[in-house]
Amino acid sequence: MIYRSVLTLFIAIMLSGTILAFGQTGNIHLSWTGKNKPDVSHTMAVTWNAIGSKSMICYGEDSLDLKLSKSPIAIEVFNGSSKSYNYKARLTGLTPGRTYYYKCGTEDAKWTPIYSFKTAPVAGSEQEYIIGVWGDTQNNAGNLAFEQTERIVKQMAHYPLNLSIHMGDIVENGSVEKSWYEFLKIAQPITAIAPFMPALGNHDVNNKTKEKEFQKPFPIFYDSFNLPGDHLNYSYDYGNIHFVAVNSGFAQGAAKEGKTLMQKESADYKWLDRDLASARKNRNITWIILYAHYPIYSFGVSHIPEWQSNISPLLDQYHVDLCLTGHRHVYERHKAMRNGIADRQEDQMVYDHPNGTVYITNGSSGGSLQGLGGDNMPSMVYTAKEKVYTYAIMTVQGNKIIYDVYNSKNAKIDSFSLVK
Ligand SMILES: [Fe+2]
Repeated sequence: MIYRSVLTLFIAIMLSGTILAFGQTGNIHLSWTGKNKPDVSHTMAVTWNAIGSKSMICYGEDSLDLKLSKSPIAIEVFNGSSKSYNYKARLTGLTPGRTYYYKCGTEDAKWTPIYSFKTAPVAGSEQEYIIGVWGDTQNNAGNLAFEQTERIVKQMAHYPLNLSIHMGDIVENGSVEKSWYEFLKIAQPITAIAPFMPALGNHDVNNKTKEKEFQKPFPIFYDSFNLPGDHLNYSYDYGNIHFVAVNSGFAQGAAKEGKTLMQKESADYKWLDRDLASARKNRNITWIILYAHYPIYSFGVSHIPEWQSNISPLLDQYHVDLCLTGHRHVYERHKAMRNGIADRQEDQMVYDHPNGTVYITNGSSGGSLQGLGGDNMPSMVYTAKEKVYTYAIMTVQGNKIIYDVYNSKNAKIDSFSLVK
């Protein structure tokens, strides 16, 4: 654990501020992929960007003896504006709970530094897992070159993350290829060593309500990421946790057109219903954590009211423990909710066997800060009293979750535990 922390910090220092250095290879990030639910214990997807069409990957358990991947490792995608190629490799046959080392590079031996990652333990294992939670890293005012996001990445790099989940609005305008590459460059200190599993936000997708591709990502997203299923609504198990990422599209525009996603009886809704039912029946799973961009409950107008009447009942029915979101650039945390009613809560810092789902809006990890949250809402437990960029470190220990929220100066602004 200590070794991983030191290695993480070393990599963060080595790579901060570089773009396509080390033999013109960069923007490396890990993920899990697969047609259905990915096998997180035996596989790892590595995606990177390189100048040149002959990049490759070597990996192994011994950092001094890395072997060239024999599998068909790369899908080459020429990106017209960036004059580079994206590579996607899926390493298979890995051993659960092991540390692997890898490097990417070109035939002329210009290799990246060696990175490491750890495969997930066997399904159902109850160990300590550390998950980075961030979102709304979009490069708008105050974060035009991801300056705020870079600060947060440097802070998160101090933790031995098992994975990080992103609440969407990765970039300000999803049609701008350059922004995706700049984000991936900034994020690399944590995404090259722990899988990065984002849900997309309204800024990441097509917002033109009349277009066929409304609420869908641009080609650059599919070219640059390697996620499970349809890349938008997907799930995976890690240890004793079931994660579900849900695409909320551009809810504000969609509501006016009757195009809100996840409407009852839609294909996506049925998928979510089946997925949550199966997870709750799975004896290996203690926790179900759903994450999406738009909140279902939040102060103000930024949530999706329609989801309170269609998705929330699913969360109630299958006892989803946490619903993590972004969109509103204010951090706020609610009492556990069931049937639209807030649970009684004695201690504001402890959810002890709560009757309901805990809803959290995770603020912003870079996007311009919005006004302060309001606390005159029956379900509100905590909202930040000043404008702050935030990220969270979620530690899962068997039947306990500790959720610590930090600002970009690494001061803890909120902390709670959830026990079941
Ligand atoms: Fe946002």
